[in-house]
Formats: sequence, structure tokens, C-alpha cells
Amino acid sequence: MFKCIKRTSLVMLSIVTALLLSLSFNVLANDSNNTGSSVAEREITQLAGADFWRQVRAGEEGYTTSQSPEHGVLISTPGQTWYILKEKWMSPAGAIAIFGSISVVILAYIIVGPVMLSKPRTGRKIKRWTRLDRALHWSMAFTFLTLAFSGLMLVYGKHFLKPYVPTELWGFVIMLAKQYHNYLGPLFGVLLVLILFKWWRKSIFSQVDITWFMKLGGMVGKHKGSHPSAEFSNAGEKALFWLLIFAGSIAAFSGLVLDFPIFGQTRRDMELSNLVHMVSALILICGFVFHIYIGLFGMEGALEGMVTGEVDETWAKEHHDIWYEEVMSENKKESSVEGQVKQEAKHEQTT
Ligand code: HEM
Repeated sequence: MFKCIKRTSLVMLSIVTALLLSLSFNVLANDSNNTGSSVAEREITQLAGADFWRQVRAGEEGYTTSQSPEHGVLISTPGQTWYILKEKWMSPAGAIAIFGSISVVILAYIIVGPVMLSKPRTGRKIKRWTRLDRALHWSMAFTFLTLAFSGLMLVYGKHFLKPYVPTELWGFVIMLAKQYHNYLGPLFGVLLVLILFKWWRKSIFSQVDITWFMKLGGMVGKHKGSHPSAEFSNAGEKALFWLLIFAGSIAAFSGLVLDFPIFGQTRRDMELSNLVHMVSALILICGFVFHIYIGLFGMEGALEGMVTGEVDETWAKEHHDIWYEEVMSENKKESSVEGQVKQEAKHEQTT
């Protein structure tokens, strides 16, 4: 009997102990949970509280293990100035400038019309551009135009495309534009250097260019059709060439700064590069709207030179008379030397 009571009380004791233990574990666990949550809550309140975000927005520096410049700053306040300059000023100004340039060339085509040859073609051709010249020109034209379109998509796509297409398509287009622009950009710089070395000599301004400018190239106004004197390149082409070299170098350099942010550039450097890149690219795009208009529609016979490498004698005489005379006198010299050689050979044979 005693043994039975003892066994029962032992079982009871173990049950009570187990119950007490589980209860105390629960309390402990709850306690620790409470302590944890209160710490987390406090931290969250501290971190994401209004004061915290006010500090972040004010550009205050925090702590991070990253040693790169400005990594402790979550929101850079001067970046707001960049954003306003880019989105509120330059982006609309650029759009106005591009549409303005396109409108001017359309009006020029309607009101002034293309510059036609005033005399009939002779059918005799003069070599103007070598194969290398043409390869360089069309590579540059392709690279520049595709960079211009992808760049314009990056700036303006969110206004004229994004609202009208499915999100997936927009995402794909903008990702493609970004990658294309980033990877093809450096090629523009390479082509620019090649073009500079190939064409700088014939793009040096001379006295005749002043008259060409004053007569507006004989394309508009009272001098229309007067064909002012020009060397291999006329004053307009020379100006365009140097615009390409200077504005292009600025666009290429600022593009490289943006493309490779691994040389310790700060956010200010990136913002400045972005603005400089945009301005130089927009100036180039506007300038080349006129060039493309003249090449495609504005001047009879210009395009065939850049496509076949040869121009008609009439075209050369009317648009680049000084160059035409040089080529003619060189041809004369060559043919007189050839004639002399032939005569000497004949003489040798007879003696
Ligand atoms: C559809 C686009 C284009 C067309 C139809 C075109 C047409 C032409 C033509 C016909 C010439 C030869 C003019 C002459 O023989 O006097 C020329 C020259 C030239 N083009 Fe283009 N072009 C185009 C785009 C571009 C672009 C995008 C660039 C550069 C960004 C460019 C840069 C040049 C340069 C530097 C010259 C040489 C001007 C000189 O110094 O004589 N072209 N282009």
C-alpha cells in the first residue's frame, strides 16, 4: 500500500515538475520574445522614424563598412539640383532645340528648296572620297545616329513611349537602349579620333571661307545660286567638322566618365558629366539635322559622292571650284608627264 502511494506520488511529482518546467520555459520564451521585439521595435522606430528620414533626406552621412566615397550618404541633396536641371530645364530645352532644327530644315525645303545644279551634268566623274573615307563616314553616321536614338530614348522615352506600351515591352526597350548606348559609346570616341586624323588637314579655315559664310553658302537669300568659292570642303563643312570634333570629344569623354564609375568619381562628378554629356550630344544632334538634310535632300549630287566616291564635274565646279581647279591642273600635269614619257619611249625605239 505504502509502495503504491509512493509510486503514485512520484508519478504526480514528475507530472507537476514537467508542467512547471514547461510553464517556466514558456514564460522565459515569452519574456525573451518580448525583450527582442521591444528592442527591434525601438530600433525600427529609431531608424525609420520621421527624424531618421528627415536626416537622410537632408543628406546626413551615416555609417557603412564600404569605404567608397559618399557611401554613407543615402540621399544626396545637391542631386536634387541636378535632377531639376536635367528634367525640368535641359530635357524640355533639348526637345525644343531638336524639333526646332527639324522644323527649320522642313521650312528650308518648302520655302527655299534644294540647291540644284545650274548647268547640266557632263557625265565625267572626279574622284572625291576614297573607300576608307566612305567606310569611316558611314560607320560614324551609323554609330552616331544609333547612339542619338538610344540616348533620346533614355531621356524622352518615359514621356512618349512608356505610357502607351505594355510594361514588359517598355522594360525591354529601355534596357536595350541603355546597354546599346553604354557599349557602343566608346566606339564613337574611336571613330572620332580616326576622322580627326583623316580629315583635319582639309578642314582648316582659309580666306575664302569668310566670303562663303557671308554669302550663306549661296544657299539662301539674295546670294542663292551664286556658288561662292570653296576648297575641297566649304566653310559650312569645315565648321561642322570642328563642331563634331569639339562637341564630340566632350560627349565622348563625359560618356566614358559615366560608363566607368570606377575611378573614384563622386556623385557630383557623375551629375556634372551627365549634364555636360547631354548638352554636347544635343548640340551635335541639332547640328547634324542640318548636315543630314543637305546630304539627303538639300543639295543635288552631294550624296552620290559619299555613296560612289565620285562626283560629276559640274557638281565639283559649282560647289568646290578651287578643289576642281586643283584636280584639273593635277590631271593636266599627270597627262603631260604621261605624254612626255610616251614620246621619250617612242624616240628611244626609233633611234
Ligand atoms: C543619313 C545621314 C548622313 C548623310 C546622308 C550624310 C551625307 C554626307 C555627304 C553627302 C557628305 C559629303 C559632302 C561633300 O562631298 O562635300 C558628308 C560628309 C561628312 N559627313 Fe555626313 N552624312 C550623314 C550623317 C553624318 C553623321 C551622323 C556624321 C557625324 C556625326 C557625319 C559627318 C560627316 C563629316 C565629318 C563629313 C565631311 C565633311 C567635310 O569635311 O567635308 N555625317 N556627309
